[in-house]
Amino acid sequence: MIDISISEFLSLPESEKITHIKGQAVLYAQQFDREQLDYLCELSDACRKLRKSKDGADFMATLLSDKTALNFFVQPSSRTFLSFNMAQSILGMRRMSLRDAKISSISKGETLADSIRTFLSYVDMIIMRHSDADAGALAYWIAAKSHRSELVNGKKVPLPIISGGSGTKQHPTQSLLDIYTLEKSLEEVGGIDGKKIMLVGDLKRGRTVRSLSYLMKNYKDVELYFAAPEVYQMEEDILQFCDDNGIKYKKIDSIKEGLEEVDAVYMTRIQDEWDGLGAGAGHVKASDAFTFKKEYLDLMKPHCCLMHPLPKRDEIDVELDYIDDKRIVYWRQERNGMWMRVALIAKLFGVDKDIIARLAETE
Ligand code: CP
Repeated sequence: MIDISISEFLSLPESEKITHIKGQAVLYAQQFDREQLDYLCELSDACRKLRKSKDGADFMATLLSDKTALNFFVQPSSRTFLSFNMAQSILGMRRMSLRDAKISSISKGETLADSIRTFLSYVDMIIMRHSDADAGALAYWIAAKSHRSELVNGKKVPLPIISGGSGTKQHPTQSLLDIYTLEKSLEEVGGIDGKKIMLVGDLKRGRTVRSLSYLMKNYKDVELYFAAPEVYQMEEDILQFCDDNGIKYKKIDSIKEGLEEVDAVYMTRIQDEWDGLGAGAGHVKASDAFTFKKEYLDLMKPHCCLMHPLPKRDEIDVELDYIDDKRIVYWRQERNGMWMRVALIAKLFGVDKDIIARLAETE
């Protein structure tokens, strides 16, 4: 049971919140170490292999058939929301969704804390996407104070809370699927260790690139290339994190400047929803120097992969979508996300070993 007040907990730096959470919620990319990342990638592979057969799929659908999840997404989402839904379905979970705070009792003045407490009366896990960077931490604290708990590997733990994206700062499960995609794409050249990775676009408000940068602390000799106009450059806290954790980086002024050197290019769109305009209003166009053009494929290394967390707009030449080039991986990346989310949920509920054992029996 957590022994500090909610205001004390929320005022802690992320590093201390992570110490309290002990892996029982998924809120911050930096909570993952290399061993956990390697295991989650291995488990994602096992899940996808096992579910290829009807027998394997039927087995997986029994694993969490006594559990219920709430997908509480009050910011727009397609793939995180749907892939979590599908991951829950693969594991046999019952699931509910709440996608608009306006049709919940929050619109009647209920606090987020009371809403979370209410949700935890009905479900065994909450996946949440929220504009408030502290919403996940608040939910974790309430879960840790709750009389309801999960028995995982013989130990009572708080009901799991997973961030499906919070504010502009964190998207931890996106960074897990990005690691899985990078490891798979770079498998023939030794994986992520020693590689140069270019992050392009709105690095300032892009929670995906921030979370992925945190995870690079787990890999040897990685160099990050931050390719963005100054107004969207990576924020100081991430640069400090890189310095503190021995992650090399440089800022560059165009994609072309580093393209021939890097092993992966990770594009992002301008996150102009944070400019205070209505959805879809006043989209800011990606500038030419930070738009990936078809002819850039000729400059990329033979193994270099082109990633994007999606949704995308005009920052990638649309012609690339229908070119048969195995280096263009962003559509595979979103599918990888579903398997990583199956693996993550299985691990949180302690049914991961059942999946690995069942696969071993069938191979
Ligand atoms: N990558 C990502 O988070 O996509 P959605 O916003 O569609 O969930």
